[in-house]
Amino acid sequence: MDWGMKNRISRIIKPEIGRTVMLAVDHGYFLGPTTGLEEPSKIIAELVPHADSLMLTRGILRTSVIPESSVPIVLRVSGGNSIIGDDLSNETITVSVEDAIRLNVSAVALSIYVGGKYEHQTLKNLTSLINECEKYGIPVLAVTAVGKEMARDAKYLSLACRIAAELGAHMVKTYYCEDFEKVVKTCPVPVVIAGGKKISEKDALELAYNAIKRGAVGVDMGRNIFQSSDPVGMIKAVRSIVHENASVEKAYKTLKL
Ligand code: 5RP
Repeated sequence: MDWGMKNRISRIIKPEIGRTVMLAVDHGYFLGPTTGLEEPSKIIAELVPHADSLMLTRGILRTSVIPESSVPIVLRVSGGNSIIGDDLSNETITVSVEDAIRLNVSAVALSIYVGGKYEHQTLKNLTSLINECEKYGIPVLAVTAVGKEMARDAKYLSLACRIAAELGAHMVKTYYCEDFEKVVKTCPVPVVIAGGKKISEKDALELAYNAIKRGAVGVDMGRNIFQSSDPVGMIKAVRSIVHENASVEKAYKTLKL
């Protein structure tokens, strides 16, 4: 791995502790103005001081993040689908690597739908993206999207994460599940977890805590932060778990719900 690639990865996964709190606000690429992301610039300005990196789309980066920002960017570069379309797995690459470089991103992110109707297409998207990004030392975060028909269990998630790593992804984002340690153990690149749909703050903190304890290097959380009644408190609480190994109880007590 060349210097540039290592340097970009170290902007996201902090080398001092090997952990990361990635704030995900890329949901609009297929969900539109989803709850909590109605005014992206406002919520991003509030939360970004507490994030190690920011995952978002090209459009929101350009319109809703000040260019003077120093937050490392993980750019969502797959899409071309919508929540009302025929099949969410029908994704393509939506941003050129040249534009990602122009936007000075630290990494790019793309979804794969293992087992989905468009599985081959999304895996081909991943390998095309990796082949291009390797030329410029840009790390690729593979997002293991779980189709409706898929069971979000260790068997499925281990399969999806391992395929992503085998194809050359530098980091993988997946979901927490029972026997999560098996998912981490069989995936040879760093794993972060998405939070998934909004659950109680306590349960979301539990999710982060258990994922870290079982080997994740961090979280790439969105809805459980920006849909919380205390978003800033929530990202700080998640941060205390990821970076200070705080207990769930200690982190939860800091929230103003
Ligand atoms: C869907 C994504 C999100 O980045 C990912 O799911 C993390 O967000 P959340 O914690 O809300 O699930 O890939 O666009």
